[in-house]
Amino acid sequence: MPDAYILGIESSCDETAAAVVRSGEEITSNVVFSQIATHQPYGGVVPELASREHLRAIVPVVRKALADAGQTYQSVDAVAVTQGPGLAGALLVGISYAKALAFALDKPLIAVNHLEGHIHAVLLEERRKGNHDLRFPVLALVVSGGHTHLYLATRQDNSWSYENIGHTRDDAAGEAFDKVAKLLALGYPGGPIIDKLSSHGDPQAVKFPPSQLKHRDRNDQKSGRTYEGPRFDFSYSGVKTAVLRYVETHNMQGSIAARRNALATIPQPKLEGYLSNCDKQTLDLVASFQRALVEDLVGKTLSAARAYDVATLFITGGVAANQELRRQFESDAAREGLFVYFPSRPLSTDNAAMIAAAAYPKFLTRDFAPMDFSAEAGMVLK
Ligand code: KG4
Ligand code: ZN
Repeated sequence: MPDAYILGIESSCDETAAAVVRSGEEITSNVVFSQIATHQPYGGVVPELASREHLRAIVPVVRKALADAGQTYQSVDAVAVTQGPGLAGALLVGISYAKALAFALDKPLIAVNHLEGHIHAVLLEERRKGNHDLRFPVLALVVSGGHTHLYLATRQDNSWSYENIGHTRDDAAGEAFDKVAKLLALGYPGGPIIDKLSSHGDPQAVKFPPSQLKHRDRNDQKSGRTYEGPRFDFSYSGVKTAVLRYVETHNMQGSIAARRNALATIPQPKLEGYLSNCDKQTLDLVASFQRALVEDLVGKTLSAARAYDVATLFITGGVAANQELRRQFESDAAREGLFVYFPSRPLSTDNAAMIAAAAYPKFLTRDFAPMDFSAEAGMVLK
């Protein structure tokens, strides 16, 4: 099969990214422009600001991705872009630019689901390592700031299909990390800092009740779900509220305000800066919150693996960068004889290499997008 160089473009949330990937297995460039500094003062992504930043960054980011790869606009074989899910305005920037490039250069255009991209980040990584022996079906946990989904992924030649067997009913896991960090004045995004601080606290100090889902998902019918197998849904708004209650009942507001003021005077706080502004009670709370989330994610994923008799797990998305989550998955999966794979940390969070990799099977089957396709903010992966 001849080599194909695919230019991938990703702009679904707060990263403007472009990458060139050869035949779904070799990253020849991977450029990510993060807007974290823009959104940091607001403690979360502001959609209008995200679109404006994407507009500013998209041309230089794509140019750099081509230059780093030693490619030109003319030399790539196809242009792939994230169609959804994500912020509509943000998605439109990448889509409009990808369409303009594909039209002007007369190249095939490929539309990619962002969640499929996260799953293919793992496949890309394994192909890079020379591992071509994955056992299917795969159970993929896509866990990020916007998503907490469990998919059964199956492959037939170059055609992939996905069955959602679980999703969050309220907050995504990464969103819970971000909201708890905001509540405790630990900055944005919350996941990386909670990850680092947690090893300094006692994860058993605060007991959070396990999340309980008593009702069927009312949105099941709306989403057109046809599958009747067991569901493994998640819920993280309860633990977030429990942290808020704990803060109130333990009178932590004063120490939180003091930390907010102290950290505001440090331009880019490092771990030491956070540690010197966190007492033991805060570190214990953070570590216990992380443990509750990790136990829930690992527990539900392993239960789903048993129920669907799956031997291979993919853990991907921004939260897959979490050290405790990786450690726990690795030890628990090994005990049950399951194979568990993660992308490297740079491929866990949003990037365009994963979009170019997910586009490769579509390139082979000539599954090209029409010029009039548009952004789908709530796009479902099937
Ligand atoms: O995949 P991603 O870059 O964007 C989305 O598609 O949402 O994920 C970003 C999310 C944020 O919520 C961030 O707090 C979380 O991933 N995150 C982490 C870690 N690194 C990023 N959560 C826990 N531990 C980490 N080390
Ligand atoms: Zn993502």
